Amino acid sequence: MLIDTFDRIATDLRVSLTDKCNLRCTYCMPEEGLQWLGKSELLSDDEIVRLIRIAVTSLGITEVRFTGGEPLLRPGLVSIVEQCAALTPRPRMSLTTNGIGLKRTATALKAAGLDRVNVSLDTLRPDVFKTLTRRDRHRDVLDGLEAAREAGLTPVKVNSVLMPGLNDDEAPELLAWAVANDYELRFIEQMPLDAQHGWKRDGMITAGDILASLRTRFTLTAESDASRGSAPAERWTVDGGPHRVGVIASVTRPFCRACDRTRLTADGQVRTCLFAREETDLRGALRGDAPDEEIAQLWKTAMWGKKAGSGLDDPTFLQPDRPMSAIGG
Ligand code: GTP
Ligand code: 5AD
Ligand code: SF4
Repeated sequence: MLIDTFDRIATDLRVSLTDKCNLRCTYCMPEEGLQWLGKSELLSDDEIVRLIRIAVTSLGITEVRFTGGEPLLRPGLVSIVEQCAALTPRPRMSLTTNGIGLKRTATALKAAGLDRVNVSLDTLRPDVFKTLTRRDRHRDVLDGLEAAREAGLTPVKVNSVLMPGLNDDEAPELLAWAVANDYELRFIEQMPLDAQHGWKRDGMITAGDILASLRTRFTLTAESDASRGSAPAERWTVDGGPHRVGVIASVTRPFCRACDRTRLTADGQVRTCLFAREETDLRGALRGDAPDEEIAQLWKTAMWGKKAGSGLDDPTFLQPDRPMSAIGG
C-alpha cells in the first residue's frame, strides 16, 4: 500500500509517457519547445509495464492514467495498454490527451483495453485555438473527440483552461457545445506549472469567475461532497441534469487533503505531487537489476515523504523545476 504520513492512500497512478508535444499551448511551453528527454533517459515500454505491474500487484494501485506531454506521440502506447489490461487485478485505464491523433487510434486503444479519455480543448474558435496552441489543429481535436465517443472511450471528458482576454468569455458556449455532444466539460484553473514561469495569481480566471459566467445561461446544482470522493473536479448538474459540468480549482479551492495520486515521469522518477520538489529515481533501480520488492519499497518510502499540500498559498512557494509537460498533466 502507498500511504503517507497524513493517512492518504494512493490508488491512482499517473504515468507520463513522453515529455514531447505537438502543440505549444502558451500556458504550458514556449514556441520553440523545450529540451526534450533523450531516448536513453526515457523508460522503455517494458520498463513502464514492469513498474505498472509492481504498482498494481504489490502497491494497491487500481487506476492508471497515461499522460504526457502528449501520450499519443508514444509509439508503443497501444501495446503498453494491452499489456496493462492483462494484469491481475486489471487496473482501470484512461488517457489525458490533446486529442490530435485520436481519430487514428481511438478504436485500437479501446480494443487494447483503454476505458476512457480526457481531451484538452480550450476554445471552439479555430482562430483562438491557433493563437493559444500556436498550431492550426482545431479540426483534428474535434475529430479526435468524436472518434473517442464513437469508439466507446466514455465518458469523454473535456478539459478547458480559460485565459484572460483570450477565451474567458467562452465558458457558456463551451458548456452548451459539450452538453449537445455528450462530453463532460471541466474547467481547470491555470496553475504555476508553465515552463516560462509566467503564471500570475492576479488576473487568473478563478472557479468563482467561471461559475458566475456559466450561471448567466444555465442553472447549476452542486453535487454532494460524498459523490466527489478524491476527484479533483467539483461538479454541478446542468439545468436539472443529466449533464454535468466540473471545475478543477487547484488554486482557489485546493483538494490536497483527499489526494489519492502518485506520479511517474517519463524518465522513471516518482513524484508524490504535481508541485513536489523531490523525486525518487526508480529508473536507476530498474537498470541496476533491483528486484520487484526493492522497487516497491523505494516507492513506499517516496510516498511516506508526501507533503500535506501543494504549498501554493505559502509565501515561500517555489514553482517546481520541471514544467507540467515533463511531470505529466
Ligand atoms: P478524472 O476526472 O478521473 O478523469 O481525472 P482528472 O481530473 O485527474 O483528469 P485529468 O488528467 O484530465 O486532469 C485534469 C487536471 O486536473 C489536470 O490537468 C490538472 O490540472 C489537474 N490535476 C490532475 N492531477 C492533479 C494533482 O495531482 N494535483 C492538482 N493540484 N491538480 C491535478
Ligand atoms: N494550469 C492548468 N492546467 C494546465 N494544463 C496544462 N498546463 C496547465 C497549467 N499550467 C492542462 C491542459 C490539459 C491538462 C493535462 O492540463 O490543458 O487539459
Ligand atoms: Fe501539449 Fe498539453 Fe502542454 Fe498543450 S498543455 S502544449 S497540449 S502538453
